[in-house]
Amino acid sequence: MERTFLAIKPDGVQRGLVGEIIRRFETKGFTLVGLKFMKVSKELAEKHYDVHRERPFFPGLVEFIISSPVVAMVWQGEGVVAAARKIIGATNPLTAEPGTIRGDFGVNVGRNLIHGSDAQETAQTEIALWFKEEELVAWQPHSTPWLS
Ligand code: CMP
Repeated sequence: MERTFLAIKPDGVQRGLVGEIIRRFETKGFTLVGLKFMKVSKELAEKHYDVHRERPFFPGLVEFIISSPVVAMVWQGEGVVAAARKIIGATNPLTAEPGTIRGDFGVNVGRNLIHGSDAQETAQTEIALWFKEEELVAWQPHSTPWLS
């Protein structure tokens, strides 16, 4: 089953949006299989954002991610990678559609509340970077009438 990596960033935690953000994925019908509340090390932040290493905002992005706790999560479900990106909205909250997390709650590209893997391959890499295999819980909700 497809999985994606999501992280509620320091601004999402500081603003008290953890419950609201998790609710959107739960009520959509995706399954939570991993959850950690944690301070991020500089090493992990730099690895996670390695693709942006040469960008001018990279140092500030890393400093921000390690500044305060994040909620790291793995969600599971059919098509969850692309669907989560839609639920999250465009990278810049100013252009993100209303109804998306960033569109509803954000105004600044550097404070866009949540990260979501951009593709299935990236999701696998990010899940392996943030979670040990034994930290992921294999389970299914008892009843999934919305899927049948
Ligand atoms: P995220 O989805 O976590 O992936 C990379 C992050 O870099 C992105 O969200 C933004 O928070 C951040 N980012 C992208 N562009 C800029 C920018 N121009 N200035 C500051 N941060 C940026």
